Formats: sequence, C-alpha cells, structure tokens
Amino acid sequence: MREFSDNMTSLVSYPTRWNQCGDARYRGNCDGRLFLGLVLRYRPGSVGDPMMGSGTTRDVVDWLNRKSGASIRYWGDDLHGGFNLLKQDLPDRFDLVWVHPPYWDIIRYGEHPDDLSNTADYAAFREALRVCLRRCMAALNPGGRLAVLVGDVRRRGSYIPIVRDVLNLEGELGQLRSVIIKAQHNCRSDRVQYAPLEDVPIQHEYCVVFKRNQPLRALRNAA
Ligand SMILES: C[S@@+](CC[C@H](N)C(=O)[O-])C[C@H]1O[C@@H](n2cnc3c(N)ncnc32)[C@H](O)[C@@H]1O
Repeated sequence: MREFSDNMTSLVSYPTRWNQCGDARYRGNCDGRLFLGLVLRYRPGSVGDPMMGSGTTRDVVDWLNRKSGASIRYWGDDLHGGFNLLKQDLPDRFDLVWVHPPYWDIIRYGEHPDDLSNTADYAAFREALRVCLRRCMAALNPGGRLAVLVGDVRRRGSYIPIVRDVLNLEGELGQLRSVIIKAQHNCRSDRVQYAPLEDVPIQHEYCVVFKRNQPLRALRNAA
C-alpha cells in the first residue's frame, strides 16, 4: 500500500485507470486512488459516503480491509438507492465523510426533484450543496474530516467556480485543511471535437478537506 500513500501531495494525477473500484461506466465515477490516499493518511475507523454513485468508496474500503486486515466501518448510499442528502441525515457518525456531488447539471443523474444535478439555476444548486455539505459535517465525529471532490463549470461563456462556493463555507463547515488539485483524464468531453475555444478547457478538479473541530451540538441541526 505504500505506493499509494507516501507520495500524495496537493497535486494528483492518475492517467491510467485503476479498475479495482467503482464502475467506470457510471458517468462521473471517480478513480479510487485519491480517496484511498486520504484513508491511508487519516486512518479513519469509519467512513461515510452519502453520494456513492457506483460505489467507488465502498470498493476501496472493502479492498483495503481485505488487503491490510483493517476493519474500517463503511456506510454509503445515494439518491438512486433511496437516500436523499437534501432531506435526510446520515445514519451514523464517521471519522471521514467523503462526498462527490454533481458539478451542477454538467452530468444529469436523474429526474428526481432533489437530485442536485436537476437544479434549475446555479443559485439553487449552491444552496442545495450547502445544505448537503452541512449535513455531512454534522455526521462527523469531533476531529473528523470532510473531503469534498468538486469541479468548476463553464457555461455560456461564464466560468462558474463551484470550488469557491465550497471554500467560502469554511467556518460553517469546519477548518479548511487541504486543497488537492486532481488532473482529470478520460472525460467523455475529451473525445468531443469542439470549435476552437476562447478560453482554456478545464482539466482539473479539487478535493477540499475540512476538519471538524466544533462541538457536536453546534452542528447537529445544521441543515
Ligand atoms: C459525481 S456522482 C458520484 C460518483 C461516485 N463518486 C462514483 O465514483 O461513482 C454524484 C452522485 O450524487 C447523487 N445525488 C444527487 N443528488 C443527490 C441527493 N439529493 N442525495 C443523494 N445523492 C444525490 C447522484 O445520484 C450521483 O450518483
């Protein structure tokens, strides 16, 4: 496992796919190595993922538990599995919560009105994301970490820095501890031939890590 943990810095890039975890056919599925790096660094006893999509984090935890004999407890769900982060609290407390929300409507995940990829305008998305992230933070054990994987969007000539709105939640969400830049590879948009763009294409996303240091009660009714 050393090859995954020792060299992780604030800049990560995985040009070749790691097919052990998740389902690459699920749009927006993420490579499990960044999440694995965080687990190896923070050594959580428990992990939650309320937007698990194809189950990348579940598979990483299973893999790690098998390989290392660890017994990390895992809970994950998704709107597709019946769990609605906009309306429901996570069912337990965790040392690490990983959340990988839709990047607004860049990929549509479904027609459910509470699907974050289904919000009509950016202001509504930003508010829904805030509610979801506060719920995630409220599910952390004191000293726990919230890792948010998020990317920016370009829409009709405007650059929408979703990461700025996540970073602006510092304080509300806990203490900002890391911003990791992750290169994006093998995106479906890479294969589309666009007319020459006026601005440079986006080929990175961010993993923003907050640490919870407020008392539990202050966050319990956060959302
Ligand atoms: C970017 S994908 C996550 C992909 C996942 N990390 C993987 O590797 O497969 C975002 C997920 O958020 C889910 N989602 C959107 N709105 C939600 C909500 N209100 N509650 C729970 N999940 C939601 C979508 O169904 C989708 O699976």
